[in-house]
Amino acid sequence: MTTEAAIVDLAALGEDFTRDPYPVYAELRARGPVHRVHMPEGYEGWLVVGYEAGRAALADARLSKDWDNVSPDVGATRLAPGITMLSADEPAHTRLRKLVAREFAVRRVERLAPRVQQITDHLLDRMVPAGHADLVEALAFPLPIAVIGELLGVPFLDQGAFRSWSNIALASTDPKEREAAVAELTRYLIQLVADKRERPGDDLLSALLHTADEDGDRLSPEELVGMAWLLLVAGHETTVNLISGGVLALLTHPDQLAALRADFGLLDGAIEEMLRYDGPVETSTYRFTLEPVEIGGTIIPGGGQLVLIAMADAHRDPARFPDPDRFDIRRDTRGHLAFGHGIHYCLGAPLARLEARIVLRSLLERCPDLALDAHPASLTWRTGLLLRGPESLPVRW
Ligand code: HEM
Repeated sequence: MTTEAAIVDLAALGEDFTRDPYPVYAELRARGPVHRVHMPEGYEGWLVVGYEAGRAALADARLSKDWDNVSPDVGATRLAPGITMLSADEPAHTRLRKLVAREFAVRRVERLAPRVQQITDHLLDRMVPAGHADLVEALAFPLPIAVIGELLGVPFLDQGAFRSWSNIALASTDPKEREAAVAELTRYLIQLVADKRERPGDDLLSALLHTADEDGDRLSPEELVGMAWLLLVAGHETTVNLISGGVLALLTHPDQLAALRADFGLLDGAIEEMLRYDGPVETSTYRFTLEPVEIGGTIIPGGGQLVLIAMADAHRDPARFPDPDRFDIRRDTRGHLAFGHGIHYCLGAPLARLEARIVLRSLLERCPDLALDAHPASLTWRTGLLLRGPESLPVRW
C-alpha cells in the first residue's frame, strides 16, 4: 500500500482534455482506482476512477461533504454561499433535505408537466421560424432556469447576470474569478430572499421562509440563502447539459436518432443513455477525508484531503457497461451514477428527467430534419472538472 502516489497534472492537459477527457480517465483506470491529481481548478486532490470504486466512494461516510473538514493545505474555498444539504453530513443533511424533499418527489414533479410543456412550446415558437439556432441559448438554458425559477417563486430572476455568475462559480479555472462570482451571487440571493420576505407568494421560497422542521427549527438566514443557491444552480447548470449533450449525441449517431424518431417509446431509455454516455456531471462535488481511506491499495491520508469521484469514467468502465464508448439508446443503463449515489443522490432527478422528456420530444417533432450546424470537433466545452457540456450547440433544420 502506498500514499506516495505521483501527481497527475490534469491542468496541464489543456483543451484536449476539456473536449474529451475519457481517454485520460481510461488510462488512469488501467493503472488503478485512485490517483493524486493537480486539478484545472488549481487544487490538489485525489481522483477516484472506475465504476465499483466510484460508486463505493460516493456513499462512503468517511468522505465528508462539510467544508469545515477541508485541510487548509488544499487551499480550496467554498463554492456555495450559506449552508446547503450538499455541503452537510448527517444529521444536518437529512434535516435540510427533508424540508424540500416532498416538493421534488416524482408524483409532485409530474404535476409540472403541463407548465414545462407550455414553456417549451413558447421557446420553440420563438426558435423554429429562424431555421437555425444555438440550441444552448434558445432552449437548453432558458427552459430549466424558467422552471426552477417559477418553482422557487423568482420569475423575475435576472437570468443573464445569474447565469454568468453561476457559470463562473462552477466552471472557471481562475480561483479569484470564482470567489468574486460567488460573492456577487451571495449578495444577489440575500436581496432575493429579502424581497420574498416582503412580498411572499404561493411558492417554495415563501414556504421555506415559514417552514419549521419537526423540532420547530426554522431555516437560518444562511440556510435559506444556501437552499436558494443550491436549487437554482443545481436546477439549471446540469439540465442544460443534459439537453444540449443529449441532442449532440443523437445528431452524431444518426442510427440512434432514427430509431428514436421511429419509436418515442425509446425516449426514457435514450435519456438514461445520454446521462451515462456523456452526462452533465463529470466528477462529483468535493469530499474531504475524515480519516485515512484505503481504495484499491492506495491510502488517501485523513485530515481533510480533497477527493473527487469521476462519474464520467465510471460510465465508461467496461467491467460495468459492455462496449462503454458506444452510444446505444437501447442498452441497460441501470446503476449509472449520473445523479450520484448514497445520501446525496440528486434531489432533482425526477424534474431533470421530466424536462428532458418534454423538451427532446417536442424539439424532434417540431424539427423533423434537425442537424448539427458545426463540425463536432469545432465545439467548445465547459471548463473545469465538475460539469460537462458544449458551451454552444449550433443546429439547423
Ligand atoms: C440532468 C440533470 C442533473 C444531474 C445530472 C444532476 C446530478 C447531480 C449529482 C451527481 C448530485 C450529487 C453530487 C455529489 O454527490 O457530489 C446531485 C445532487 C443534487 N441535485 Fe442534481 N442533477 C441534475 C438536476 C437537478 C435539478 C433539476 C435539481 C433541482 C432541484 C437538482 C438538485 C440537486 C440537489 C438539491 C442535490 C443535493 C442533494 C443532497 O445533497 O442530498 N439537480 N445532482
